Amino acid sequence: MSTSVTTENVGITISNHLLLNQQYTTGATGSYTRLLQALVLACKIIQRDVAKAGLVDVLGRAGFVNVQGEEVQKLDELANTTVKRRLSASGEVCALVSEEEADIIEIPRQYPQGSYLVHYDPLDGSSNIDANVSIGTIFSIYRRLTPPTTDVAHADVLQKGIEQAGAGYVIYGSSCILVFSTGQGVNGFTLDPSIGEFLLSHPNIKTPERGKIYSINEGNANYWDEPTKKYIDWIKTGYEEHRVHYTSRYIGSLVADFHRNLLYGGIFLYPADTKDPKKPQGKLRLMCEANPLAYIIEQAGGLATTGRERIMDIEPKHIHQRTPLIIGSPEDVRAYEQFVAGKRG
Ligand code: AHG
Ligand code: MN
Ligand code: MN
Repeated sequence: MSTSVTTENVGITISNHLLLNQQYTTGATGSYTRLLQALVLACKIIQRDVAKAGLVDVLGRAGFVNVQGEEVQKLDELANTTVKRRLSASGEVCALVSEEEADIIEIPRQYPQGSYLVHYDPLDGSSNIDANVSIGTIFSIYRRLTPPTTDVAHADVLQKGIEQAGAGYVIYGSSCILVFSTGQGVNGFTLDPSIGEFLLSHPNIKTPERGKIYSINEGNANYWDEPTKKYIDWIKTGYEEHRVHYTSRYIGSLVADFHRNLLYGGIFLYPADTKDPKKPQGKLRLMCEANPLAYIIEQAGGLATTGRERIMDIEPKHIHQRTPLIIGSPEDVRAYEQFVAGKRG
């Protein structure tokens, strides 16, 4: 068990925090720490690119090469390449799976093959970048199961969320915040751009038992199933019954909606809907969005479910599998599950 992070740790760098964690983790070799440090570097680079995106975007719109002499790339692709390069070069991963790439990413042979693999969403909410709305990067870390002398197997890549060795996200917003857990609670680090360091700012995050915020894209209301429709009506009109007036907050960037509800309490829902026959399970991806945020919310005392099943118990069948995601304060998520089970509404 690592140290319990308390307020007097506020201000320590993430490297200090990782080394503190490492010395209290029996058998730690430093491999996991080096993996996280590579991820942190990638996110610092993405933050730099996101911060200048407006400028590059303007340059890019003129259709010529940008100031660095690069053909302007979409920010998703830039973020994807950054994470891929930095994690591959860390020598700590044996495979990567990116939301932006159809297949499992093999690690170039010139790098050592590590004992971890990472699923990641390089840029979440990127449709919002032109409006300067917060976007983010989400990552989910697993240990390799098969021997290092063999090829990486599907069994390594398609593990249940409960097998995660760690998970987290970075929000590129009014400030750049990294939130992650390695199984001993959730801690948030804010980037101090003047020194280029993430410093502990949110020690030991716990989400409220119940919130006053519900987050869902009500534009999809006609495509929801009956329990979801009844639950949202209850949230809106059940004021007397639960004597809490809920407010609706939905920004369309999962990381931003999740982070707000993690800190303030509440429920985020992206349920299955009939809008797109190709996505009957809803829009969000199990391995690079739902599982990592489910890991974080459970470490922070919350819940994450499909409405019928705990997200982290889902047996993955495909690396880009989609899932309904209902996540947040335990009392709010349990209320939704009661509607699905027909015990309410
Ligand atoms: P991404 O940009 O990685 O594709 O993710 C976008 C997701 C998620 O960030 C957000 O919660 C959701 O799309 C919003 O979808 P709708 O616009 O359908 O509400
Ligand atoms: Mn996403
Ligand atoms: Mn994305």
